[in-house]
Amino acid sequence: MNKDNAGKIEKVKLTPKYQNLDSSKLLERIDDDIQKLNRLKTVLQKEAEGRDMKEQQDQKGVDKVEEDAEEQKVLKDGQDMGDDDWKDNSNSTLMKNVDPRQFRRYELAYDRVKDFYLEQHTKQTIAYNIQARINFKTKVRDRMSVWDALVKLNKLLDESDPDTELSQIDHALQTAEAIRRDNKPRWFQCVGLIHDLGKLLYFYDSHGQWDVVGDTFPVGCRFSKKIIYHDFFKKNPDNRNPLYNTKYGIYSPHCGLKNVMLSWGHDEYMFNLAKEQSTLPPEGLSMIRYHSFYPWHREGAYKYLMTKEDEADLKVVQTFNPYDLYSKTDIRYKVEELKPYYLELIDEFFPNKIVEF
Ligand SMILES: [Fe+2]
Ligand SMILES: [Fe+2]
Repeated sequence: MNKDNAGKIEKVKLTPKYQNLDSSKLLERIDDDIQKLNRLKTVLQKEAEGRDMKEQQDQKGVDKVEEDAEEQKVLKDGQDMGDDDWKDNSNSTLMKNVDPRQFRRYELAYDRVKDFYLEQHTKQTIAYNIQARINFKTKVRDRMSVWDALVKLNKLLDESDPDTELSQIDHALQTAEAIRRDNKPRWFQCVGLIHDLGKLLYFYDSHGQWDVVGDTFPVGCRFSKKIIYHDFFKKNPDNRNPLYNTKYGIYSPHCGLKNVMLSWGHDEYMFNLAKEQSTLPPEGLSMIRYHSFYPWHREGAYKYLMTKEDEADLKVVQTFNPYDLYSKTDIRYKVEELKPYYLELIDEFFPNKIVEF
């Protein structure tokens, strides 16, 4: 079994818990499990078919055919480049047509953006963050396909964003299309499409937008002056708590960002969902987790918490960021035209089809 398919099969979990369920829930659970079994069967069949086909080709000695097929596949996957070449944005079509000074101009931001950050900086505390993670882990909010989730998300206007008033699906497609146009790998395109999908949280467990959107930052240690609207932290109770208001607070030097609690919102939420339910590579998961951590990836803050692994992640997130930020234009794609391409892409990285949000 090849490595990719092995990953897919592992994602098909068969852990029924039938105890203490009433009859309607029991039937629903059995139905879920039958569907999982069917998906597993399909994956195994495809794997067997692939093996048979390869054996036949080997017998015919058609090396040339294989080479051509491989080349086609590489072109399709946007991976006609070296292993690490996807990190190079120097030939980006997007970057050639953009003036970075036109983005994140908070001095010109609407009052709604300032009001948003005052609330976010006041309420993102350690206590809140611990509770938010408990809430996340103890229930499933909804079940639907990634595409249906994108459509649902379209009703949200992000109050923290100074750069765009386009809908969320427009932003998702603009980001993904910019990545695709630059011939980046398919997993990278998928990250572009879903990186903001965690904003769905707004429709379920949020207390407003302050615990869903906006730049992120560590809680449990001193708030860096490099965080946007830093003065707004004055009313945050953690800012006066000696446990949390020192340079390291509850952390230790170079403890690693994976051990740091970043303010709760769509990044953390989607990172945790994608880690469990997708086959996206670690680089893609880091892009999702850190994409709003501007004080870190843009301003260079919190170096004293980083490890070597975080240095590598920083480059990865910086590769992603221009597509998130600079693709915010007034170009609107025709959703229905792009839908078939992205449905296939989603299926590739979310093998269970229905995601638990
Ligand atoms: Fe985002
Ligand atoms: Fe975004």
